[in-house]
Amino acid sequence: MSTATSTSIQQPPVIPMRRAYSGLELPAIGFGTYRVEGFEGVRAISSALEQGYRLIDSAVNYENEGAVGRAIRESAVPRDQVIVTSKLPGRHHAYAQARVAIEESVSRMGLDWIDLYLIHWPNPSQGRFVEAWQALVDARKEGIVRHIGVSNFLPGHIELLVRATGVTPEVNQIELHPYFQERDLLAWDEAHGIITEAWSPLGRANQMLHDPTVVSVATKHGVSPVQTILRWHLQLGDVAIPKSMNPQRQRANIDLTGFSLDDADMAAIAALDDPEGRTFAQDPHWHEEM
Ligand SMILES: NC(=O)c1ccc[n+]([C@@H]2O[C@H](COP(=O)([O-])OP(=O)(O)OC[C@H]3O[C@@H](n4cnc5c(N)ncnc54)[C@H](OP(=O)(O)O)[C@@H]3O)[C@@H](O)[C@H]2O)c1
Repeated sequence: MSTATSTSIQQPPVIPMRRAYSGLELPAIGFGTYRVEGFEGVRAISSALEQGYRLIDSAVNYENEGAVGRAIRESAVPRDQVIVTSKLPGRHHAYAQARVAIEESVSRMGLDWIDLYLIHWPNPSQGRFVEAWQALVDARKEGIVRHIGVSNFLPGHIELLVRATGVTPEVNQIELHPYFQERDLLAWDEAHGIITEAWSPLGRANQMLHDPTVVSVATKHGVSPVQTILRWHLQLGDVAIPKSMNPQRQRANIDLTGFSLDDADMAAIAALDDPEGRTFAQDPHWHEEM
């Protein structure tokens, strides 16, 4: 197989960092890898690392931890400069299964540790996410994962974790984009020192990329709608993890510092918020993934 093994590394563009209560720092733009898999996936992730991405998102359920780990191992970027994430699926929330699942993730990646491990969904009707959290807490104590957090958790779910274990997640990864802005949850996370990561930050390239408001702000600044949306994330304060298979798009998506949105731009995009604006109606109150 020929992969784009890195022999040179570009200086990463200057990207602001977000800081959790624990001291964990994440770059405000990371790389999403849902459906980035196989050898083509290795090439895409290698390219993202070359472009300057230092935060790579993955999950057991993406079935691509092998590709992610391989790209990281083959990269010229030193391992300690990359933050790789994986996520525990709902079918492994029972404590003993969660411990094994984390070890299997580390082994599939072929790495000595995973930087950030999240519970993928709370799956409230199963009612075992506190057990799963205890497994992440213990794996962090052992050092096989360095930081721990959650995904798609609501404040009530996080409060249960903290009450049971005394440990607050360092990250909460949630759906967040101009059509679904989650401002209350973002503020709640921030008040608790939790970094909010935005999944599907581009709304999975839906009609939002053609929205007249987004297009008009983009035209005003001479940038693309995608860069406008990612700059909005940057100024909102979250960590966006856009996915792209395409090296030019990867570069454009991380190159956001040559312009900024003014108050009128931010207000125009704020007005696009819609409580029903989720891309696939995956409300964590009831949506469950195994
Ligand atoms: N925790 C969770 O439950 C959860 C759920 C969903 C996603 N995620 C994570 O979040 C990541 C991002 O979300 P996502 O993959 O759903 O969607 P996304 O990043 O919002 O959008 C990806 C789409 O945008 C296109 N795109 C990217 N850059 C572009 C550009 N500059 N111009 C035009 N089109 C562009 C991509 O196409 P090309 O590839 O062809 O460029 C792809 O079709 C995922 O990959 C995954 O890591 C987490």
